Amino acid sequence: MTKRVAFVTGGNGGIGSAICRELAKQGHSVVAGYFPPEKESAEAWQKQMHDEGFAIGLAAVDVSSFEDCERAVAEIGDEFGSVDILVNCAGITRDGTLKKMPEANWKAVISTNLDSAFNVTRHVVNGMLDKGWGRIINIASVNGQRGQFGQANYSAAKAGMHGFTMAVALETAAKGITVNTVSPGYIATAMTEAMPEEVLQSIVNSVPMRRMGKPEEIANTVAWLASEENAYTTGANIPVNGGLFTSH
Ligand code: CAA
Repeated sequence: MTKRVAFVTGGNGGIGSAICRELAKQGHSVVAGYFPPEKESAEAWQKQMHDEGFAIGLAAVDVSSFEDCERAVAEIGDEFGSVDILVNCAGITRDGTLKKMPEANWKAVISTNLDSAFNVTRHVVNGMLDKGWGRIINIASVNGQRGQFGQANYSAAKAGMHGFTMAVALETAAKGITVNTVSPGYIATAMTEAMPEEVLQSIVNSVPMRRMGKPEEIANTVAWLASEENAYTTGANIPVNGGLFTSH
């Protein structure tokens, strides 16, 4: 197995943590990006990972800022080496119906969930092109594929993320790089815990598998997409949603 440098934005989040663990288990050198104001909790998270046997690096990065991403990617390059595997996993929700949505909630979600994919990938892609190897995995959502009541901002950002995946996949396919989207359904994390309980329950009841997903179920798919073996799947949107949404 070739040891690679993996950078996971939102690495200290619910899905991000499972991805960091899985990529570390595969033997990669893993760096978790965290939102700078969360320094204290990110350091506690790093210690917990360490106690579990995973040595994970930390990088403070505001993914909504192009300049901050440039700085963070340069620092990761100096400390760990250039990024071979990028997982764009940082994301937020600001749920509410469009008729009441403040502009700030639209902008926050678009900049953190969609601009971020550009802001980070733009600073990583040239290193991958130079090396002739790379894996870019964008974590979107079932709600970017089918829309969700109360998520005009989030659904737009996540749908846009896959448009980004498809275009960048075409631009990099001849250079040993694969670019794919993973679209999770409702996964048991702090993000879904924050939902009104009855709304969450009614959605889970509509999932054909009748349960929420586990973060590890997303991490396994990411690990496969990041692997050496996955050299021919690119531009795809892989659903991991318990059957909540099917498409061809
Ligand atoms: N479909 C149709 N109508 C609905 C509805 C639905 N799913 N949900 C509510 N309504 C109706 C209500 O019955 C009510 O109707 P009346 O006005 O006729 O009484 C009306 O819409 C309520 O509209 P409001 O603008 O007043 O909405 P609200 O303030 O009650 O709250 C909400 C709406 C904040 C969007 C709330 O429903 C909510 O939090 N929904 C969850 C959204 C969601 O799925 N978020 C996912 C978070 S996790 C995540 O994003 C991870 C991932 O990738 C899956």
